Amino acid sequence: MGSRLLTNIGELLTNDPDVGDGSPVGRVRDAALVVDDGRVAWVGPAARAPDADERHDAQGAAVVPGFVDSHTHLIFAGERSDEFEARMAGERYDGGGIARTVAATRAASDEHLRAQSRRRWAQLRAGGVTTVEVKSGYALDVAGEARLVALAHELTEEVTFLGAHVVPAEFASDREAYVSLVAGEMMERCAGAKWTDVFCDRGAFSVEEAREVLRAGRARGHALRLHANQIADIGAVDLALEMECASVDHCTHLSDRDVERLGDSSTVVTLLPGAEFSTRAPYPSARRLLEAGVTLALATDCNPGTSYVTSMSFVVALAVREMGMSVDEALWSATRGGARALRRDDVGHLGVGARADLVVLDAPRAAHLAYRPGSSLVREVWCADE
Ligand code: NIG
Ligand code: FE
Repeated sequence: MGSRLLTNIGELLTNDPDVGDGSPVGRVRDAALVVDDGRVAWVGPAARAPDADERHDAQGAAVVPGFVDSHTHLIFAGERSDEFEARMAGERYDGGGIARTVAATRAASDEHLRAQSRRRWAQLRAGGVTTVEVKSGYALDVAGEARLVALAHELTEEVTFLGAHVVPAEFASDREAYVSLVAGEMMERCAGAKWTDVFCDRGAFSVEEAREVLRAGRARGHALRLHANQIADIGAVDLALEMECASVDHCTHLSDRDVERLGDSSTVVTLLPGAEFSTRAPYPSARRLLEAGVTLALATDCNPGTSYVTSMSFVVALAVREMGMSVDEALWSATRGGARALRRDDVGHLGVGARADLVVLDAPRAAHLAYRPGSSLVREVWCADE
């Protein structure tokens, strides 16, 4: 394929502060962009755009980088809408429902899991996601976790091993044996994953147990991420910092000390407002984290228990409305922030050399993504490898 010029863009967010208005979102009005060989080859004002082999007219639409959804549990069977209804009536989330999804997932065929997860990925994509991270964690036995890791690899290179999601019923009386299994044979069979994650929280794994699993992941060459402080503050943020996790995720309940330490670190905080929405939990303040200098990502956390959400624009709208982010901050966090959480520099922005993953909106300004929640505003998704 030759070069392609996308011109007559009403508002372009590049996330490259060297381009356009100099803000973190690198805004250019009346913009154009040239794609060559799947990469951004030129970006700037339409009036100065070079020629290309093909020309596309955006007709004044806004264009943003493709969303980077850096936290999902896409591969599972069944659903738990009854738990959602119970929570809306006052029940609390405690992680107990994970066992139901484990039972359904263990019983499902490869074909069923593949079809279901592809549908969810198609929904994410239709809403503008171009990079996705996918976790295992709903099998919790050696062969099953290896199967989920293999299925996740069919969707993305950003595959995370989450054998330490909860302790399965058959190990209830011997947690230590389960942690050893995860850190040993299960990890070995899931070595092809890129990341290790642990649900380190009340009702899941303790800081000591999580440390053992993260160390084993690191020894296997995995980079690390952590589910922390979703249900309670048991000291998981300190562990994430000690282990130099790329990202610490949820962070619903944070102490002032956690916030300060995160601000002094390079660990990204990934906020998952779909989970607060669906568990009726208090939304953490993104403002407080931004003021402390923390780098934020926003992701869907798509899973059947706490956030059956496949829309990044819904996540952006929640972050703006409920977490104190500006629209620009939320859009940056849902794109470049997600890329930072995955330690990727080739996605999440549209600077020269980036992958040409972008979304043409059915709107003249990117702010419409938060301003018109529930509307389908994605006109076209361009993805470098399609
Ligand atoms: O990110 N917190 C742990 N894991 C998922 C929920 C899992 C479930 O309830 O099925 C989450 O919220
Ligand atoms: Fe999660």
